[in-house]
Amino acid sequence: MRLAVNIDHIATLRQARMTNEPDPVYAAAIAELAGADGITIHLRQDRRHIQERDLELLRAFIKTKLNLEMAMSMEMVKIALKHKPDVCTLVPETADEVTTTGGLDVLMYTDRVEEVAGNLHAAGIEVSVFIDPNIDQIKACYKLGIKTIEINTGEYAKNWNTSYAKLDLDKIRKSVEYARKVNLKVLAGHGITYQNITPIAAIEGIEELNIGHSIIANSTFMGLEKAVIRMKDLIRRTSRQ
Ligand code: PXP
Repeated sequence: MRLAVNIDHIATLRQARMTNEPDPVYAAAIAELAGADGITIHLRQDRRHIQERDLELLRAFIKTKLNLEMAMSMEMVKIALKHKPDVCTLVPETADEVTTTGGLDVLMYTDRVEEVAGNLHAAGIEVSVFIDPNIDQIKACYKLGIKTIEINTGEYAKNWNTSYAKLDLDKIRKSVEYARKVNLKVLAGHGITYQNITPIAAIEGIEELNIGHSIIANSTFMGLEKAVIRMKDLIRRTSRQ
């Protein structure tokens, strides 16, 4: 199971002072050297952390895989087509949220997903859709010719140390099982920490985890290299893939 590190919050710290440090490019280098299999950024419409220039520099710099999380706006499609990340992950985005709060409702936005994914696919960009662990959402992605999904682990992460966690894990396991049966590539992420990762890393069929906040938060104490290595070790110890 691969680990993609989301470095948005390096840029959050930089934007707190509107200065030039810490630099997401440095963070990407350290994360890759520590074993990250990919780098993820979310270019939000309000530009609260990552800026378009970061995308440009990271595109030129990184040696693994660049995953751009984006809203389904025409502005974002244009930016994606200009910079050509390896993967674009379609996410819902609202101005007042602190972070992505749920999966994209593909059933509600079928036409939009089809149009945006079509434009990105035509440019040779892999499209991943961030969805809640729900079979109907997976079926909707499949029907649209989407080949990659990222399952939202946010609900599980919120409940991981309560009696609801089993239910959330069951939903995720069933979703992964169904998605693999119809041959989709399955990624997962949101809210994963050193404390709650193990049951997720144990799920067969998940190829990659996208982890940001916990790694960046802990890097302030232990350094980014160690923070990435520790997460990689937890995955390696659990995952058989
Ligand atoms: N996956 C998606 C689609 C996200 O939007 C985010 C947050 O940017 C993550 C994964 C990573 O979540 P976290 O920062 O909680 O690890």
